[in-house]
Amino acid sequence: MSIGTRLFVWVAGPIVLLLLCAGYLEERSSRARLRDELAREGRAISRTVQLAIEDALRDRQLDDVRDLVDAISGYERVLGVRLFGADGGHRYQSQSLTQYPFLNPGSLERVLSTRELVEWRRRIGGQPTISFLLPLVYRDTVIGAVEVIQLESYIEEDVRATRRSIALLTAVMIIATGLTVSIVATLAVARPIERLVATARAIQPMHEEDSPKRRENEFERLDREFREMIARLDAASRSLVAEQAERRRVEANLRSAERLASVGVLAAGLAHEIGTPLNVISGRAEILLRRESSSIVTENTQIITQQVDRISGVVRRLLDFAKARDLQFRETDIHLLLGRVHELLAPEFSRRGLHCGLDLRADLPAIWGDAERLTDVFLNVTVNAMDAMEVGGTLKIWTDLVSAADSSAEATEEFVVVGFDDSGHGISPEIVDRIFDPFFSTKDVGHGTGLGLSVSYGIVTDHGGRMDVDSSPTQGTRMRVWLPLGTPSRPEGPRA
Ligand SMILES: Nc1ncnc2c1ncn2[C@@H]1O[C@H](COP(=O)(O)OP(=O)(O)OP(=O)(O)O)[C@@H](O)[C@H]1O
Ligand SMILES: [Mg+2]
Repeated sequence: MSIGTRLFVWVAGPIVLLLLCAGYLEERSSRARLRDELAREGRAISRTVQLAIEDALRDRQLDDVRDLVDAISGYERVLGVRLFGADGGHRYQSQSLTQYPFLNPGSLERVLSTRELVEWRRRIGGQPTISFLLPLVYRDTVIGAVEVIQLESYIEEDVRATRRSIALLTAVMIIATGLTVSIVATLAVARPIERLVATARAIQPMHEEDSPKRRENEFERLDREFREMIARLDAASRSLVAEQAERRRVEANLRSAERLASVGVLAAGLAHEIGTPLNVISGRAEILLRRESSSIVTENTQIITQQVDRISGVVRRLLDFAKARDLQFRETDIHLLLGRVHELLAPEFSRRGLHCGLDLRADLPAIWGDAERLTDVFLNVTVNAMDAMEVGGTLKIWTDLVSAADSSAEATEEFVVVGFDDSGHGISPEIVDRIFDPFFSTKDVGHGTGLGLSVSYGIVTDHGGRMDVDSSPTQGTRMRVWLPLGTPSRPEGPRA
């Protein structure tokens, strides 16, 4: 119901009720007043008729009495007149009364005996009437009685006229109220609300199917529009916050990628420069080993060979890091790779008294990737977790399929997520941003090059994925590797 209609009902309802009550009371009081006036008038007429008849009877002019009776009947509001004898017998009556017999002998007896006026009301011929019965007295003797009957129907006519005027007044009041209320409602309520609704909608237009099926008034509509606007603003602000977070993440990745790229160029050059002399040193060491039989030379040559191998390992990783890698993309079953890693490291786990559990999602689809390099990633992350659990602990390796924003953050994409949850010493917040940096390591010299995670990160980003870390010094570390299901330009190849 519109606010105009409501206001109209609220304002016009009481007015109509008030008018009806006033009309009813006015009708009652005017009916009583008119009856009173009519009775007084009737009494006066009856008294006059009584005196006139007594006068005529005194002169024994019976014809005059009849003429008088006939003349009075139909005059003003008089229906008719009846004459009775002293014995109560019926003597004469107006023509108009012939069909309606006298029905009140008790009153007649009372009038004849007490000489008092008696009046009563009855309906005659369907019309309300009032009868006045008076004694006729001649020389102090009651010689009969006269009944004057007056019509009361005039009262009903008056009352009907009053009713009509009240109904007319009520109708006029309703129309006037309706017009006033509708003008006020439109100018003062509906239009401002319409403007507010238009403003609320301007923030983001509503879809057609969102429009309400139920009829609602302006305030309900305003309330709904505002709630929808708040919901839209809320959704917009939440998506803005999410977009900002995603932007910050992409920017951080970009910065890190730029840093990695420059370090990569440096590392590639360095690896090349070191590679040749290393080959020479190891070649010479081999010649020495073959030619020299003295134990001191053999022992030292072996140490040289071992250290050269170690340097070669670092150089190889440097070259890996410097993107000197050639990825072989195949359809790859991640669970197969994790199984291999688990198998490979199981003896080491038990040697260190650690536990490793797999929680793999059953219906995980295969991805497009380089099985060997991804195994390197998983091995490195697992070894890091093992190193973090110096005093025992558990590593849980799990997989899942997740829909998330793609690298451009413009659409969502499906990712295979490989998680490594360890119960180790965690990473302190001060260094957590640096763990993917090349050569960043907290391990003792000779135990870690600090290249594991940066190389892994490079491999994963080459797959179109990403890595993230969530760690607290009390609860251990969760390292996640995100690998997209769909990779652009998939070369065909056998299953890994
Ligand atoms: N699961 C983990 N728990 C605690 N710290 C970790 C974890 N994984 C990585 N780190 C921290 O990140 C650093 C960098 O790791 P990264 O694998 O790049 O190098 P590294 O393990 O030190 O050396 P490398 O892997 O070359 O032998 C580690 O030294 C360690 O401080
Ligand atoms: Mg490592």
